[in-house]
Amino acid sequence: MTQFHMVEKISSGIAGFDALSGGGLVKNSVLVLYGSPGSGKSIFSTEFLLEGLKNGEKVFYISLEQDVDSFLKEAESLGFQEFRQNLNNNFIFTKMTGHDFKNFLSVELPKVLESRKGKHSRIAIDPLTPFLWEIKDQVLQRNILGDTFNMLRSFGTALIAIEKYGDISKLELSEDLAIPLYLSDGVILLSMVYNENFYQKTVSILKLRFSSHSAGMHPFEITNKGIQIFQDQPVF
Ligand SMILES: Nc1ncnc2c1ncn2[C@@H]1O[C@H](COP(=O)(O)OP(=O)(O)OP(=O)(O)O)[C@@H](O)[C@H]1O
Ligand SMILES: [Mg+2]
Repeated sequence: MTQFHMVEKISSGIAGFDALSGGGLVKNSVLVLYGSPGSGKSIFSTEFLLEGLKNGEKVFYISLEQDVDSFLKEAESLGFQEFRQNLNNNFIFTKMTGHDFKNFLSVELPKVLESRKGKHSRIAIDPLTPFLWEIKDQVLQRNILGDTFNMLRSFGTALIAIEKYGDISKLELSEDLAIPLYLSDGVILLSMVYNENFYQKTVSILKLRFSSHSAGMHPFEITNKGIQIFQDQPVF
């Protein structure tokens, strides 16, 4: 067995992903979901939370851009009725308003999560990018994110979407985004590869602490039922 001891894993909720990640996501870890526009970051995050709802966990969607109605509409277009059914009960949607990201992450977010202290929660932050633009000072950014990630680990397992710019088929780790990628326990890259006449969506695991994971680039599709990863197929 190559399985590490001492770490507990939870199912990601994304069809095909647990097989790539060595059996799911490490419980109480912080994962970055790094992807280009339209690559599936929000749907991936939604399915990660849906798995929690199905298990009776409390789940939190922290949006820095969307409001709850548009989130619920998107979820329902994928056939996920659970979010509306659990709204303000096991499903908490919080939209960050204003631009005081520092205060939001250090003061407001812990208050939102407090209701679940002592029980495992799933948390999605979608996307963190505006915070990275706002807090340009690297030392301050590292301090705030270090504290925020530790706080998130104490409440549960968190998935943090970060928008990727530039060539959608290339892994370009711009310096502006280095800090969250280093501080996180795992980085999942959603990308697109041009394949003659269409863009093939792909998922790769760039890092995943405590896990023996796939090093490959795996094609996936988004259908009207959500993400489907084809782990045994090559990209082309
Ligand atoms: N019902 C569906 N059937 C097929 N594909 C879909 C469906 N719904 C969404 N998609 C695909 O999912 C993409 C959007 O996924 P999602 O919103 O998760 O991406 P994102 O990475 O969060 O995008 P953004 O950068 O705009 O936030 C669409 O561009 C489309 O390719
Ligand atoms: Mg999105």
